[in-house]
Amino acid sequence: MKIVPLIQFGLGGVGRALVRRVLDANDDFEWRYGIRFLYVALSDSRGAAVAAEGFSYAQLMHMLTVKASGGSLADSEWGYKRGELTDLVDLAGTEDAIVIDVTASDETVDALLLALERGYGAALANKKPLTGPYRTFRHLTASGRCRYESTVGAGVPVIATLSETIIPSHDPVHHIQGCFSGTLGFLTTGLEAGRSFSQLVAEARTRGYTEPDPRDDLSGMDVARKALILARTLGWPLEMEQIPVEPLFPPEMAQGSVAEFMTALPRLDEAYAQQMAQARAQNHTLRYVARIEAGETRVGLQEVPLDSALGQLRGSDNLVAFHTQVYAETPLVLQGRGAGVDGTAAGVLADLVALARS
Ligand SMILES: NC(=O)c1ccc[n+]([C@@H]2O[C@H](COP(=O)([O-])OP(=O)(O)OC[C@H]3O[C@@H](n4cnc5c(N)ncnc54)[C@H](OP(=O)(O)O)[C@@H]3O)[C@@H](O)[C@H]2O)c1
Repeated sequence: MKIVPLIQFGLGGVGRALVRRVLDANDDFEWRYGIRFLYVALSDSRGAAVAAEGFSYAQLMHMLTVKASGGSLADSEWGYKRGELTDLVDLAGTEDAIVIDVTASDETVDALLLALERGYGAALANKKPLTGPYRTFRHLTASGRCRYESTVGAGVPVIATLSETIIPSHDPVHHIQGCFSGTLGFLTTGLEAGRSFSQLVAEARTRGYTEPDPRDDLSGMDVARKALILARTLGWPLEMEQIPVEPLFPPEMAQGSVAEFMTALPRLDEAYAQQMAQARAQNHTLRYVARIEAGETRVGLQEVPLDSALGQLRGSDNLVAFHTQVYAETPLVLQGRGAGVDGTAAGVLADLVALARS
């Protein structure tokens, strides 16, 4: 049996769901794959905890309780005030280790690179390290020991389909098209049902579908990051600045408080209602689409036929359609819940197993 040491950065919603999933799966993985995961270090934004011999089930559960109630790892019995993440990798890393990045931080790159240099694996749900300069993406992914399934479509196997089926089968990609935001899916299907844009944004915010400032979702930047990861996975050396991104609000509404933004939103209702009516007159509808084609990527609101896969998408599901030489007539389509801590943790766990078995 192979023991696989885990060093995890981040114990938020996804991080805690992942710890639980690893603990639940360990017995099954031992007989199924001959591997067992062992947490040797954990870190949040303020604290860390290290145990060379590995944390027990009870210790991990205690740390999850501390974190779920808003505390820091530093407050737990085994925790201390956090230093550099690179030091944590240096201290806790041993053969076969995997470093997991389930933060939303852009400060993890050096520690991830150190782990990869040492021959460890890396599994990321955090998009930021992969969407900085292209050379950092190359540096992180060159060894093949860095996996990032959950960065696009959460647990829906978008990256695995591209990098383990389409690319290795030498099937040329004509284009990839997808809806990668559950929040924007909720808005566009609501517009299709005749509801007003401002009402829909307000409801999405109340339901917790948006970030605290809904402009973070409506800017399209999160979708652009996912599109950039897909384009780079295809091998295109794109930078973020090269992606045209169409936000769902005008530039003057980018300034000011969230309350001011919400008050100004009804101004956009008529334009979106008209745009949807024009689309419907052509048997089309509106979707917020990322399109990756011929070395270029663009992200924005687009008319799509009502009877297409994207047109039939409902609510907050994600969808990606791969149009390749093999899948020319009918695209290869993946669809499912593209957000949520459990699906995201499931995608990371699948990456851990793939790394542990390689
Ligand atoms: N939630 C989803 O549905 C979903 C879907 C796909 C991908 N993702 C991605 O998964 C990642 C985690 O999401 P989440 O919802 O779990 O976020 P979250 O609840 O905000 O948790 C983030 C965690 O990272 C920790 N952290 C922040 N900066 C850190 C640093 N410099 N070093 C170490 N730890 C640090 C935070 O520490 P504190 O606890 O001290 O604040 C927190 O524990 C994000 O990158 C997100 O984009 C999430």
